[in-house]
Amino acid sequence: METFKSVPANGNRALTYRPLSSVWERGDGELLEAAFNFYCVIPPEPILDSTYNAGRFWKGSTREVVSMDIDPTYKPMIVGDNREMTGVPSAHFGVVVYDPPHVGPQGRDKSCKKFDVDFGATVECGKRHDWNLSYLYPPFLKQAKRALKANGLLLAKITDMVNNHKSKWPHVDFIRMAEEAGFTVCDLIVKVRTGPMVSSKWENAHHARKRHCFWIICRNSNECERQLSSRK
Ligand SMILES: C[S@@+](CC[C@H](N)C(=O)[O-])C[C@H]1O[C@@H](n2cnc3c(N)ncnc32)[C@H](O)[C@@H]1O
Repeated sequence: METFKSVPANGNRALTYRPLSSVWERGDGELLEAAFNFYCVIPPEPILDSTYNAGRFWKGSTREVVSMDIDPTYKPMIVGDNREMTGVPSAHFGVVVYDPPHVGPQGRDKSCKKFDVDFGATVECGKRHDWNLSYLYPPFLKQAKRALKANGLLLAKITDMVNNHKSKWPHVDFIRMAEEAGFTVCDLIVKVRTGPMVSSKWENAHHARKRHCFWIICRNSNECERQLSSRK
């Protein structure tokens, strides 16, 4: 749903760009395409999807995507840890996409459920890591920066969560860590879905039921704004 209206300004000059809304109500694949069109200053391809899983982002896409996942079950082109990216060439990709697990095994028994396995939520997420997965980000960010061409984009889908009875804010951690790794964080897009998850097993609620996640847009550059020849 387009939420922007074109408002003629300064003597009815036409817009030279297609606006991108900071709130996204459609699918991830469409959001990625819109982000490529809006932010890319170099060709996006080849694209490295560093957490490929079932490749849901690319269904129906003709993009040249190199798939990486630590789990061989998904048959990615590169079976490997995105915190090491062994064998991945430097300065090679126009875009790196990152959709890490947002929580580890949950519940009292801490065993992995099918849902956890399906979405890679099998990574250690306990007391040692303050009940969140932000510790995964710095080594990944270092590798993503290495693999990207200058001015390439890192697009990360990050979901906040409640774990061990406390709100955790990995999107805040990611933004800080991306800046520390030398990226410029350009934008934060809120992606919303229609219905919140509800389970009859949950008898109480202490936090708002999340029905959003964030897409964080980072550029491998010191600045975010596209170099416009008409810039004054
Ligand atoms: C949330 S899923 C990604 C879903 C995917 N974007 C899709 O649309 O199908 C996260 C994936 O990251 C993978 N993963 C977790 N840690 C990883 C690591 N260190 N390196 C590479 N892949 C990792 C998991 O195996 C899992 O398949």
